[in-house]
Amino acid sequence: METTGDAEISRRGIIVGGAAVAALSAVPDVQAATQAAGTQPAPSLMKVSLQVNGKRRDLQVDTRTTLLDALRENLHLTGTKKGCDHGQCGACTVLVDGQRINSCLTLAVMHEGDKIVTIEGLGTPDKLHPMQAAFIKHDGYQCGYCTPGQICSAVAVLDEIKAGTPSHVSASLTDKPAITADEMRERMSGNICRCGAYSNIIEAMNEVAEARA
Ligand code: FES
Ligand code: FES
Repeated sequence: METTGDAEISRRGIIVGGAAVAALSAVPDVQAATQAAGTQPAPSLMKVSLQVNGKRRDLQVDTRTTLLDALRENLHLTGTKKGCDHGQCGACTVLVDGQRINSCLTLAVMHEGDKIVTIEGLGTPDKLHPMQAAFIKHDGYQCGYCTPGQICSAVAVLDEIKAGTPSHVSASLTDKPAITADEMRERMSGNICRCGAYSNIIEAMNEVAEARA
C-alpha cells in the first residue's frame, strides 16, 4: 500500500513539477514580449491632404489609420458609421471620387488629394439631398445606424446604373441596365440593415430614380 501511496505522491509530484517547469519556461517568453512591447518603435506618421465634403483637410496620421477612422476620429465626421470594421456591413460607405467604397477597408494615406463625400457632405438638415429626403419620406430606416452608408451607397448605385455599369443580375454585359428593383437590391446587397428597412429603402431609391428620369 505504501508503495502505491509513494507511487501516487510520486506521480503527483511529477505532474506538479512538470507544471512548474512549464510555468517557469513561459516566464522568459512573457518577459521578452513585455520588453519588446516597451521598445516598440513609435508609430510612423505621414501627412495626407484630403478633399472632404468640398474642403481641403490636412492631416498627420499613423500610416495604419483607415479612412473610416481618419474621418471619424481625426475629422470628427461621425455620420459615417463603424459597423463591422471588416468590409462586411457597408455602414462605413462613403464616396471617393464619385465611387462608393467601404472606408474601413482602405488607409487614409492612400487617398492623397482624393475627393471624399460623406453623409455630412451630401446634404444638410436645411438642404437635404434628394436621397436623404426620400429616405425620410419612405421610412427607409428604423434605428438609423446603417442609414448614412445606405444613402451614400444608394446615390452611387443610381449613378452606376446611369453610367451603364452591369451588375450580377443585369441581363447583358453590354446593354445599359434598367433601373429595376432587382438591380437596386443586388447593388445594395453589401449594405446590411439589421432593422430590415430594405423594402422602404428600395421605395426611396425608386422615387429618386423616377424623379431623375
Ligand atoms: S464598417 Fe466597413 S463594412 Fe462594416
Ligand atoms: S435602420 Fe437600423 S440597422 Fe438599418
